[in-house]
Amino acid sequence: MLMGAPGCGKGTQSPEMKERYGICHLSTGDMLRDAIERRTPNGLRVKEQMASGDLVPDEVVFGIVKDAIRQPECRYGYILDGFPRTIHQAQMLEEVEGNVDHALVFEAPDQVILDRTSGRWIHKASGRSYHEVFRPPLVAGKDNQTGEPLVQRPEDRREVAQHRLELYKREVQPLVDFYASRGLLHRIQANFPVETVTAAIRSILDPIAYATGLK
Ligand code: AP5
Repeated sequence: MLMGAPGCGKGTQSPEMKERYGICHLSTGDMLRDAIERRTPNGLRVKEQMASGDLVPDEVVFGIVKDAIRQPECRYGYILDGFPRTIHQAQMLEEVEGNVDHALVFEAPDQVILDRTSGRWIHKASGRSYHEVFRPPLVAGKDNQTGEPLVQRPEDRREVAQHRLELYKREVQPLVDFYASRGLLHRIQANFPVETVTAAIRSILDPIAYATGLK
């Protein structure tokens, strides 16, 4: 599972991990945005909280995660991106699924986090993430692989991003302690170029993937 402040690079690294290890990528942020777009009851319930950068209720997000991990494409394993985000969510997950295998926390200074969210552009269908300055697409406003248009998220407005960062800081330390106490925590220095961060993740996960026959 991946923890880290909004904009630290979880969504950027996840597609690479998904492909390399053949496991599915479950981003609670993406699933909630999808529910809002499809106007499902959960989507309608969480729309305002998401837009203001607040966390949505634990039971809503856990319900979505529980359904997702039962899908056949997740049978070889999954990356949890953005969940759990509170101790209560971590306990709910542990009760139903047991321990996660590894918890990666991405660490970067506040200013880097805010600069990254403010210039972010997303390709919705694939989740590929770009940045105006740090990771521009080949053609401005278009996805590199499909040429489809890129979009920005409402919660990336600077004042909302600042609020999300403060919330994250409040919630993260207990979670870090929770996974450290179980011997599952790995720290990733996320304030490096994308390829350097990818290499750091591979150095942790490749040996495990080989050992468990995932690769
Ligand atoms: P969610 O979608 O999970 O947002 P987040 O965790 O806040 O993280 P982001 O997706 O914003 O950032 P990221 O780390 O994926 O960064 P990215 O790779 O895009 O959650 C949204 C909302 O949903 C929450 O606020 C909450 O309301 C709700 N929610 C979700 N889960 C919940 C839960 N469990 N409980 C309750 N509520 C929940 O990178 C950012 C930018 O930086 C991109 O432009 C990218 O190109 C660039 N970049 C990435 N890496 C690098 C690098 N190494 N160098 C330079 N640029 C980089």
